[in-house]
Amino acid sequence: MERGPTEWFPARRGVGPWEEEHPGQPRPSDERYDPELLDGGDSRNVVDAYRYMTRDAIVADIDTRRHELHIAIENFENDANIGTVVRTANAFAVATVHIVGRRRWNRRGAMVTDRYQHLLHHDSVADLMAWAREQDLTVVAIDNTPGCVPLETAELPRRCLLLFGQEGPGVSEDAQQAATMTCSIAQFGSTRSINVGVASGIAMHAWIRQHADLRNAW
Ligand SMILES: C[S@@+](CC[C@H](N)C(=O)[O-])C[C@H]1O[C@@H](n2cnc3c(N)ncnc32)[C@H](O)[C@@H]1O
Repeated sequence: MERGPTEWFPARRGVGPWEEEHPGQPRPSDERYDPELLDGGDSRNVVDAYRYMTRDAIVADIDTRRHELHIAIENFENDANIGTVVRTANAFAVATVHIVGRRRWNRRGAMVTDRYQHLLHHDSVADLMAWAREQDLTVVAIDNTPGCVPLETAELPRRCLLLFGQEGPGVSEDAQQAATMTCSIAQFGSTRSINVGVASGIAMHAWIRQHADLRNAW
């Protein structure tokens, strides 16, 4: 069966040295390939198309098809979910992930995907909003507060910055005031909200469904 670069079967962690994996085939010699990985194998969590490639080469390749979608997350209380948001942003080739507030964030959930993702820090919501204005990006907050627009039927702008809040306080009052609109994800159970990592995946995918060119997907 034909398989794509994000379908791993049989399950395996990475690939061995080039000579073992490709017996008799010449080694790639261009500078995009890392001699150490070619010698020792590549166990990184990257799609097969990026095996043995340097980090810079991978970032440069993703850069050719990054979306006009930016993600921001407020980080005033060191939310452990930020890593999940970054990993999901990487999967959807988001332009940049913006961390607002504290500079330090818990990288565990990112599973090293932050190495291939452009990240930018802003001290405050005001700084983020000024940056977004300069870049002609429309800021859409994502939260389930009164008066929100349902994400399920909202038309998201193409040049878009989706802004997420933290576990507990949610998107700050200042940020919601400054955003063009706040979109909510419909819920039907008893919980007041869903995990921000999950919410970010749903919202990013809503943008992808409206604006991405699926011919560029793996
Ligand atoms: C766990 S929520 C906390 C805030 C929430 N307003 C509350 O009352 O509990 C953390 C973040 O996840 C996102 N989120 C969670 N559930 C959501 C929903 N149903 N709709 C939109 N965003 C949601 C938002 O970005 C929110 O700021």
